[in-house]
Amino acid sequence: MKYRQLGAAGVKVSVLGVGSYLTIGMSVDEAAAREIVRRAYDLGVNFFDTANAYNRGEAEKVLGRQLADFPRESLVIATKAWAPMGDGPNDAGLSAKHLFEQCHASLRRLGVDYVDLYQCHRPDARTPLEETVRAMEDLARSGKILYWGTSEWPAWLIARANAIADRNHFRPAVSNQPRYNLLYRQPEAELFPFCRHEGIGNVVFSPLAHGVLTGKYGPGEAPPEGTRAADPDQNAVMMGMYWTDEKLVRARQFKGIAEEMGLAASQLALAWTLRRPEVASAIMGASRASQVDENAAAVEVEIPDDVLERLDALFPGPAETYPL
Ligand SMILES: NC(=O)c1ccc[n+]([C@@H]2O[C@H](COP(=O)([O-])OP(=O)(O)OC[C@H]3O[C@@H](n4cnc5c(N)ncnc54)[C@H](OP(=O)(O)O)[C@@H]3O)[C@@H](O)[C@H]2O)c1
Repeated sequence: MKYRQLGAAGVKVSVLGVGSYLTIGMSVDEAAAREIVRRAYDLGVNFFDTANAYNRGEAEKVLGRQLADFPRESLVIATKAWAPMGDGPNDAGLSAKHLFEQCHASLRRLGVDYVDLYQCHRPDARTPLEETVRAMEDLARSGKILYWGTSEWPAWLIARANAIADRNHFRPAVSNQPRYNLLYRQPEAELFPFCRHEGIGNVVFSPLAHGVLTGKYGPGEAPPEGTRAADPDQNAVMMGMYWTDEKLVRARQFKGIAEEMGLAASQLALAWTLRRPEVASAIMGASRASQVDENAAAVEVEIPDDVLERLDALFPGPAETYPL
């Protein structure tokens, strides 16, 4: 395994992280979750990502039970708040009240005294940003969180939050968690240059585009049984974002390129996200331990320039990018 600093923060995260959206605590039973987490840990993964809202707390509970086997100091545990946890008016968002309550609820579900990284799952336009930044500072001062970050926030909003933190001598956000993969390269336009400039680490999600970039799905073919695409409880985002014949054709061509290099497509897809210095960790999902094994080999893959050019042609990046 390799480790990178989380932006300018001192903490080091494994370049491959393991997430728990739709899998741990949901589609994957506890025995399989145990195997996935243990295999990842044995391979050197220290970064585990979850959220309060993943299956309404179940993911945190199941993940927490597996992580309890390992020394706390060997883990970097990340969770999030923002998405609704109930039907009440204060059961969602980034208010001080909700963050305070959900942070404590996450600690109970995970079975830990603190989380390493507490993330705002999305922006909350109804809460003053000052309130959210102060709430994060208060949680850090009371020892409940060590670092805080954002997820799917635009660069300008992170900049505003960190300006507030700076003015008040509060801790800044140290990370952002954007979607990033060959089929979704938008962060390259502005977010990544901004993050590099500001020392913000990216822990990117869906690096395999929910599995599409493994090349296991074909255009016009029914998804193989037991896959995320075949499960209506899991496939809504994937179908909405990636499931077109045109994308599936390109994913198959991508698999061909990986095979020419003697790689699995998942390995090339993960290594491609890690070519960017702004990416501290690629958070993969896994539905079985064998996927963790296969994906972990991505850490050693260096992609030659000519292959990067072929990938740019197959999966063009944003037309406009901002210089550093
Ligand atoms: N911040 C956010 O808003 C946000 C949103 C989404 C995700 N996340 C985080 O990012 C993590 C990863 O997201 P994701 O699950 O969308 O990531 P992903 O890595 O793009 O997709 C994971 C899925 O791909 C399939 N897969 C993985 N390795 C494979 C392999 N070697 N061969 C074949 N299939 C393979 C598995 O599904 P099947 O085996 O079931 O087909 C697996 O569950 C989440 O767990 C979560 O922690 C955050």
